[in-house]
Amino acid sequence: MSKFFFSSIGQKFFMSITGIFLMLFLIVHLTINSLLLIGDGELFNKAANFMGTNPIMKVIEPILALGFILHIFYAGYITLKNQKARPKKYKVSSNTKVSWASDNMFVLGGLITIFLIIHLANFFWKVKFGTVATISYDGGSTEIHDLYALVAGLFKNWWWYDILYIVGVVFLFLHLTHGFWSAFQTIGWNNNKWLNRLKLIGYVYSVIIGGGFASIPLFFLIKYIL
Ligand code: HEM
Repeated sequence: MSKFFFSSIGQKFFMSITGIFLMLFLIVHLTINSLLLIGDGELFNKAANFMGTNPIMKVIEPILALGFILHIFYAGYITLKNQKARPKKYKVSSNTKVSWASDNMFVLGGLITIFLIIHLANFFWKVKFGTVATISYDGGSTEIHDLYALVAGLFKNWWWYDILYIVGVVFLFLHLTHGFWSAFQTIGWNNNKWLNRLKLIGYVYSVIIGGGFASIPLFFLIKYIL
């Protein structure tokens, strides 16, 4: 089994599986976050607190962390190994158009990791290990974390955080435009007919995820700062 983990096919397989898992997480995360744009934050607070406290999410959280760690670990390992094997990049095929994103997946992944560390320090860390204000929607019998105040407090008051998040999301968008179809190609959808379809679906997915996440800091920037 350990042979498979470090074989070329095993590495690509784990990159793909962890990548697909992270792409599913992004859909859920964006769905909850889009509630930040509706009303006074009650819907977002209720949904985010439900996600943060229900037992299923408690099991998924460490799996998610492992997904990120494995994805980053294998990306570094594969890139270093490839660099050693061929210091000079070769052309895959004379008529294959390689996008800028596909050529720079490691760099984009590194930039997203830096963004993610800042992002986790901004929100996740404070929720888990710091103190976050609470709010009650039922006259005081239950208090839940006021995550809306935490997010809005950052995006309403610091324009450069808005810009930082938008830039981080642009890196994510570029990473996904290649990562989406590449992941599905690796796990077997690699015939010509499916490749073109996957590229299109991947592009639509990347625009929704990129545009969706970017719209949140953009909303606070335009409404409260500009
Ligand atoms: C405008 C954009 C975003 C906002 C407002 C936002 C908001 C949040 C908040 C409030 C939390 C803490 C939730 C809690 O602990 O209860 C969180 C956690 C997290 N975010 Fe984001 N996020 C954004 C974009 C992203 C992006 C682009 C990624 C991935 C590249 C990401 C990955 C994560 C991860 C891994 C966690 C920790 C797991 C979790 O608590 O769900 N976020 N985010």
